[in-house]
Amino acid sequence: MSDHHNIPTEDKILMLDPQYVNVKDFEADGPILDIGGGGEGVIGKLKGDQVVAIDTSLEELKEAPPGPLKVVMDAANLTFLDESFAGATAFFTFMFIDPQNQQQVFNEIFRVLKPGSKFRIWEIVLEPVEDKNKQAIAFPIMIKLPQEEIRTGYGAPPPPHKYDIRHYVSLAQNAGFRGDDYDKEGQVFYLELSKP
Ligand SMILES: C[S@@+](CC[C@H](N)C(=O)[O-])C[C@H]1O[C@@H](n2cnc3c(N)ncnc32)[C@H](O)[C@@H]1O
Repeated sequence: MSDHHNIPTEDKILMLDPQYVNVKDFEADGPILDIGGGGEGVIGKLKGDQVVAIDTSLEELKEAPPGPLKVVMDAANLTFLDESFAGATAFFTFMFIDPQNQQQVFNEIFRVLKPGSKFRIWEIVLEPVEDKNKQAIAFPIMIKLPQEEIRTGYGAPPPPHKYDIRHYVSLAQNAGFRGDDYDKEGQVFYLELSKP
């Protein structure tokens, strides 16, 4: 599980059904910013040295496979110049980002993307947990990449309200993004946004 440095005991975790995600290759005409790109480093595995992987956790970045340029940075405060990237990705990262910062993260990604480029998000629909004894929601996941399959698990604190596609589309539109496409399988979804 990502962020395994603070794992609650098993009885305090709400375990969801296993999830499955098929990650297809995509084109970007220049560098790709991957936010929360530590851990399994899935986007780095897919796009290699085209990726700049940022994460607030040095440990998670060290754990990710080599290939991308890895930088400790907060996605809510990107230190890149405007219009630096030809694409951006967030692979199961938003569920980890403090709700108060999520709008700022969308605004920042919009700022550093070149016009005409895409922001791709893979996420899970999460709902608040009634049982206050539960400190985390976790799920096993099978990730299918063109060249390999990864079995892992992700976990995060329960959200303050429902994090569904509508929640993310609303934040994206506030930042200026246009929704291009989405796909959903089980509780997992893929959202493709573009900067006009
Ligand atoms: C579930 S992991 C993402 C999985 C990862 N993309 C992969 O391929 O395995 C969530 C990551 O988001 C990072 N994170 C949380 N808040 C962040 C922020 N504000 N900026 C950048 N990274 C953040 C965490 O440190 C953690 O490594």
